[in-house]
Amino acid sequence: SQAVSQATTLMSFPAVPTSTADTVVLPEGYEYDVLVSWGDPILKGASKFDVENSAEDQLGQYGDNTDGMSLFHLTDKDGGVDEDRAILAANSEYINKKFMHTHGGENLTADDVRKEIAAHGVNVFEVKRNWFNKWKVVKNSDLNRRLHGNADEFVLTGPVAGHPLVQTDMDRTGTKVIGTLNNCGNGQTPWGTYLTCEENFNGYFGAPAGTAFSDEQKAYGLSETGFDYNWWPTEERFNLAKHPNEANRFGWIVEIDPYNPSSKAMKRTAMGRFKHENAALTLSKDGHAVAYMGDDERGEFIYKFISRDTYREGDRAHNMTLLENGTLYAAKFNDNGSGEWVELTYGKNGLTQANGFDSQEYILVYARLAARFVGATTMDRPEWVACHPSSPMVFCTLTNNKYRGVRDNQPLNAANPREENPFGHIIRWVPENRDHKASRFGWDLFAMAGNPETQSGAMAGSDNVSADNMFNSPDGLMFDNDGRLWIQTDGNYSNEGIFAGQGNNQMLVADPVSGHIRRFMVGPNGCEITGITFSNDQRTVFVGIQHPSNAWPNAEKDGVPRSSVIAIRREDGGIVGA
Ligand code: FEO
Ligand code: CA
Ligand code: CA
Ligand code: CA
Repeated sequence: SQAVSQATTLMSFPAVPTSTADTVVLPEGYEYDVLVSWGDPILKGASKFDVENSAEDQLGQYGDNTDGMSLFHLTDKDGGVDEDRAILAANSEYINKKFMHTHGGENLTADDVRKEIAAHGVNVFEVKRNWFNKWKVVKNSDLNRRLHGNADEFVLTGPVAGHPLVQTDMDRTGTKVIGTLNNCGNGQTPWGTYLTCEENFNGYFGAPAGTAFSDEQKAYGLSETGFDYNWWPTEERFNLAKHPNEANRFGWIVEIDPYNPSSKAMKRTAMGRFKHENAALTLSKDGHAVAYMGDDERGEFIYKFISRDTYREGDRAHNMTLLENGTLYAAKFNDNGSGEWVELTYGKNGLTQANGFDSQEYILVYARLAARFVGATTMDRPEWVACHPSSPMVFCTLTNNKYRGVRDNQPLNAANPREENPFGHIIRWVPENRDHKASRFGWDLFAMAGNPETQSGAMAGSDNVSADNMFNSPDGLMFDNDGRLWIQTDGNYSNEGIFAGQGNNQMLVADPVSGHIRRFMVGPNGCEITGITFSNDQRTVFVGIQHPSNAWPNAEKDGVPRSSVIAIRREDGGIVGA
């Protein structure tokens, strides 16, 4: 593993060693500030953070468990990019129940439940940079908003809108949804909108003991207890026995216009319903919007969406309709390094009534069943997908999969070659004719994570993994404009056994061409690193620190662990990562 030289022209920062310290570790010459933490006020008149805050307080504050995010610069007075003013749109994926209430999360009151729901969703707020390259939240900006789990600002669009599968007692139109939940990764469109991706929505639903579940419900993990949030006894819409279709209104990609605070958020049903990690947006040669998407569960699939209509430069109103209609595909990775996108359209590839697929609406609501039926390749938990900014390379993290090669429905294959895959890997593909519209592609494995110190053979990892850069469970993934691939981890941080020497969760930078990988940052204890976006001039990288286990970042001030976004910059003001 040491044979590969670590020389690369893309990055010159000194690699940071592994760490188990309860702090953020950066390369020499870098520094950071905490931009915003769970509970910080972001709306006008919002209360200061206190664990005793009510649901009402939380509605005006930054949500919990920061995750995917995108920065949208504002326009300066000459109509150009204002380098120092922007809107940050950031996800709050889920909550840390035991830190959210003074009572530690047992015996929730109705207000406690509403506070938990309010701590979910999306945070949109203005940020401003001062003359020494330091960003601050603009607390009273008219642009700031919280699109939380109880907000009535969501509209179902596209083929499934209005269908009986998404009609409920509260919404006979099947179009008006309350809330967005489990907002994991994100996407940023070429027309300047934000995509927030609904992942483990099933966990919030529950039902009285003895409730029967359909095969479709089971395929999405719906159950009596969910993830023990226990919202359904006080918030009736989460009771599956009474409102089974409510769950069909979650698990979508949601498009938000960050520049218009009174706009509705659009749930894009043409892109399929599954446990969405993120959405990597690009354009085909002839201008169709293409989105690559992962479904994060053991043995689920990678998807591609191609818009029906094409992008029109400068016509934002038109471009904002592109994700409403299009075609969905699931990926087949053949063992010989070729691959194909199999169309999930009613009447094609056996997706017919005779095989249990009644309509295109059914196929979109239960995309997992359709992808499985057409023989898409089961993957080791697809997390983020990232498209290279100037070449048609696409990368996807496959975080880990303890069932690979163990359960009959997830046999080993060339794209997921390691039994029980405890470290995860990163796969890469290039479309045929270098065009994202192509139905065929070639693929290879960019990195097999592993531990060359304690393991040998396949468990040691690929040649570009060494004792100096090793990691496990790659998750967040994003390219900057220069083509550096930023890799974030959400893995085992015990620093023991097969993970000895890997320390806390971390962020690395890779050269996608040479394959070199270098560690850039290590997070505080217990956290995962997730969510990343850059200022236009690349002199700041914003990074999410999710679920720290100790009272980071303000031990003296509040004594509570608080998920936060940090802003990292170089002391000399240079491009981060270079
Ligand atoms: Fe929310 Fe799959 O990470
Ligand atoms: Ca993730
Ligand atoms: Ca993860
Ligand atoms: Ca997470």
